[in-house]
Amino acid sequence: MPTHKRKILVTSALPYANGPIHLGHLVEYIQTDIWSRFQKMRGHDCHYVCADDAHGTPIMLHAEKRGITPEQLIKEISLEHQRDFAAFAIDFDCYYSTHSDENRELAETIYRRLNEADHITKRDVEQAYDPEKEMFLPDRFVKGECPKCHTPDQYGDSCESCGATYSPTELINPVSAVSGATPITRSSEHHFFKLENFAEMLRDWIKQGHVQEEMANKLSEWLEGELRDWDISRDAPYFGFEIPDAPGKYFYVWLDAPVGYMASFKKLCATKGLDFDEYWGKDSKTELYHFIGKDIVYFHALFWPAMLEGAGFRKPSGIFTHGFLTINGEKMSKSRGTFIKASTYIDHLNPEYLRYYFAAKLGNSVTDLDLNFDDFTSRVNSDLVGKVVNIASRCAGFIKKRFDGKLSANIDQPDLLAELVDAGDSIAESYEKRDYNRAMRDIMALADRANQYIDQKQPWVIAKEEGKDQELHQVCSMGINLFRILVTYLKPVLPVTVEKSEAFLNIPTLSWEDRKQPLTDHTINKFKPLMTRVDPASIEAIVEAEQRALGVRLAAELGAPGAKTTPVTKTTKQNKKGSQVEDDNTISFDDFAKVDLRIARITKAEHIEGADKLLQLTLDLGEMGSRNVFAGIKSAYQPEDLQGKLTVMVANLAPRKMRFGISEGMVLAAGPGGEDLWILEPHDGAQPGMKVK
Ligand code: MSP
Ligand code: ZN
Repeated sequence: MPTHKRKILVTSALPYANGPIHLGHLVEYIQTDIWSRFQKMRGHDCHYVCADDAHGTPIMLHAEKRGITPEQLIKEISLEHQRDFAAFAIDFDCYYSTHSDENRELAETIYRRLNEADHITKRDVEQAYDPEKEMFLPDRFVKGECPKCHTPDQYGDSCESCGATYSPTELINPVSAVSGATPITRSSEHHFFKLENFAEMLRDWIKQGHVQEEMANKLSEWLEGELRDWDISRDAPYFGFEIPDAPGKYFYVWLDAPVGYMASFKKLCATKGLDFDEYWGKDSKTELYHFIGKDIVYFHALFWPAMLEGAGFRKPSGIFTHGFLTINGEKMSKSRGTFIKASTYIDHLNPEYLRYYFAAKLGNSVTDLDLNFDDFTSRVNSDLVGKVVNIASRCAGFIKKRFDGKLSANIDQPDLLAELVDAGDSIAESYEKRDYNRAMRDIMALADRANQYIDQKQPWVIAKEEGKDQELHQVCSMGINLFRILVTYLKPVLPVTVEKSEAFLNIPTLSWEDRKQPLTDHTINKFKPLMTRVDPASIEAIVEAEQRALGVRLAAELGAPGAKTTPVTKTTKQNKKGSQVEDDNTISFDDFAKVDLRIARITKAEHIEGADKLLQLTLDLGEMGSRNVFAGIKSAYQPEDLQGKLTVMVANLAPRKMRFGISEGMVLAAGPGGEDLWILEPHDGAQPGMKVK
């Protein structure tokens, strides 16, 4: 037994209640869940809590766009998230929301204490303001021309084309992505957390092994210079918690998000009778670990420990940072269909395949990890199906048929069994250190040993020989015992398959120590296949489903009024070395793949009063609905000539606000202009909504 019973609180970062769980997120939830399950199997008190991160401008606007309240939106998303997590066997002890009473109280307490200790300051800040929508605009909600390289349609914080960073007020011709209005600059008072007050504490803390070494280096760099005050307030309208004694001011989402870890645990305390202060009090003897992705280190390793220190709570024992998921060597991409939602995966493949695959790839470093579909298929098939499950299926039938389901009274090769049992200590150490890849390698090496044993003994041959019953019995019982140890080791990774194995073995739920006691003279149940092979067609189906969903989503987005777009201007880019890299007449394949060309039927064409170039068209896209488009083809067509015709349109063009209304796409036409302009007319047989390839 582990010498003492540890008390551990584990968290994963709180996913935004603004979109679905995808495979990238799952790296983290699977990594944390494996660790938490491992600790529980070892007999420790381990609590795994999480929550939806429910506040902030994007969530507020998203709800508005859908015509529902933010409360309705976060409720709906929370259910979706929890359904996805359950399918992947992520076993939270509490899954809560940052939009909860507990969180409000805790966030207020922390803020008050920080304020009383003079860690909060206030000053005016100038910010982009949308005069139409009457709200301040986060950087990402202002778009315009890059002040450095003049690429149009860039976000307010940085340019995707030249990489420049700037403030939204520097954008040329800025527009609000919320209303399309031109933002003005407006000043308001903001509350700041004085991080610099904690610089010394953080410098020490970083050196004490609470973060991985590579992170410690990064953080030390950050800690070299002066630490800037952190703006923790936002003006109304905002979906979040109002700051006590500051009407109209709200906590910035990142202020109450990590507090959500405490709130979720507090909720758990109420249901399980745990002592909140024992875990969060300043002198807590318990362990606290946060699993996070590398993009949110600043928040967790600087702001968070400082907030906790300043408010008189304990600091984390460890921050475990992981890298980002790439798929087939590239960033997840919607157009390539590799931005895979958990729910899409679930429709086609066994979630435990992914748990195993991630385990096989995850170490305790911050490096990115790649999901390569071919590698995924071959690993799952050869390791799980070929090596592990195979052992049971090779032995179980004989035990059932020839020995009435009963295992032999003694062990055929105690040395081999001991070898597998002993390996448990170093495998446990690997799990503890989050070196799952190493644990999986070691377990598969043991599975190879087990298979060698069976290959040598050839029970299927012995079974046919006279008078070899006892040997057959011993060999197959040994095989089942080896299998049992392997599944013990795999249990944190494959909880569902191992639960099925426990039912097959007819044993209570396995703990890490149980492996030391062999199963003898024990009746097992009928073997049912525990896991099937990965069918590569399922992977193709997932990618196709995501691509299909993307088309539908873009079309749906067009239905809502959105940002103004700026016409693309021709520019020549320079790369860092100063040479011309590309003429903007060429686009990448990715860019091309983004253009959704569709067959549309012109169901209505009308003159517009006061417009001398435009006709107003109503375009039917079949299942994708209908669109209103203003097309500059009046010089060439009478409306009645167009009615009923098929044409080709760009179906995913961002809606444009024009003088006469919102245009939701573009029709394709060719010709020099004037009367000589022809809309493209596909052959009959093409149906509205069909994709043009
Ligand atoms: N809401 C914040 C976290 C607040 S914690 C107090 C947030 N949410 S998130 O939904 O964007 O991300 C949740 C977690 O998933 C983060 O740790 C993030 O790093 C991780 N990942 C999101 N995309 C990922 C990949 N593509 N790959 C690996 N992890 C990724 O950040
Ligand atoms: Zn630029």
